[in-house]
Amino acid sequence: MLKQFLILSCLAMSTAVLPAADNIKVGEVASLTGKEAAFGQSSHKGTLLAIEELNAAGGALGRQFELLTEDNQSKAGESATAAKKLISRDKVAALLGEVASSRSREMAPIAQNMKIPMISPSSTNPTVTEIGNYIFRVCFIDPFQGTVLAKFALGTLHAKRVAVLTSVSSAYSVGLAKYFKETFAANGGTIAIEQKFSEGDKDFRAQLTAIKAASVDAIFVPGYYTEAALITKQARELDLSIPLFGGDGWEAPQLIEIGGKAVEGVYYSTHYSPENQTPAVVAFVKKFQARWNGEIPDAMAALGYDSALVLADAITRAGGTEGAKLRDMIAATKDFVGVTGKTTIDAQRNASKSAVIITVKDGRFQFVQSVAP
Ligand code: PHE
Repeated sequence: MLKQFLILSCLAMSTAVLPAADNIKVGEVASLTGKEAAFGQSSHKGTLLAIEELNAAGGALGRQFELLTEDNQSKAGESATAAKKLISRDKVAALLGEVASSRSREMAPIAQNMKIPMISPSSTNPTVTEIGNYIFRVCFIDPFQGTVLAKFALGTLHAKRVAVLTSVSSAYSVGLAKYFKETFAANGGTIAIEQKFSEGDKDFRAQLTAIKAASVDAIFVPGYYTEAALITKQARELDLSIPLFGGDGWEAPQLIEIGGKAVEGVYYSTHYSPENQTPAVVAFVKKFQARWNGEIPDAMAALGYDSALVLADAITRAGGTEGAKLRDMIAATKDFVGVTGKTTIDAQRNASKSAVIITVKDGRFQFVQSVAP
């Protein structure tokens, strides 16, 4: 009797949780664990919120969306495996991800070869979408971000001589350093010294000692939050009191958790500020906080959210999920209103949006200025 009951309830349960055959499957590759877990977690929370809202509003084409998320553990090599699995085994209609440019570059050739559209929410290195005509993004690219930072360094920090400390194992870091240097030098600035590090390094004293000897006005660190926080801490320990600044890779609560008092007064550029008072951002922050325990959505969350909405809009216009048709409809995205501004996909499959500059003040992220493209 008990056995039978168990079997029956199992059956009932499995029919309840089994995905409907006609769901629109969307694959997501994210760093939910590991070194850049803050990126993947945040992007995923935004993406999932969008999918849930879309489903609550009826889905698309009379079908519900189903988000299948694979964790690459922030490890090199895993994103390609994850993309293959989602496409071959799960038969997803499209891929969302990654945040980090190096990992998007791993996924993109798989999506391209299998003719499954991929939208990166927040990878900014230009080479990501150059991989092929099925690869898109909904954020700005680093030639723009590098220009914004160079002009900020010259115009706001009044820095004439700058040190650049680049992570040579990150495509994002190498690219952003290059674009920054070009604009900074073209506008009268001097790159007084360049130093290098690799992802996962923990001791930056040798590089910072060399930078100290070069007597610069500021240090630019195109990198991710863990190293950025450690570099800033060690700079202060070496009595370097000049400004440090970076790009969107600095954005994570861990910057302040790891950096503590040392990160007071640092600056970085990113894609959006939750302090923005436009109705779209105010509504998004409210919904996100209600869904995720009061957490304030950062740029990855906002772009993750927008990436899912842009995809859903293209699926609706495509009237189905066939790869080539869906590709064409994503490519045709024009003035799509989201929380990070309007998304228009250009001929290079990129978007063009404003950047914002953020500082750390009293242990909190604070909006400084917005820079239009
Ligand atoms: N733009 C970074 C990259 O391309 C990733 C990132 C996006 C980090 C948004 C933080 C915020 O690698």
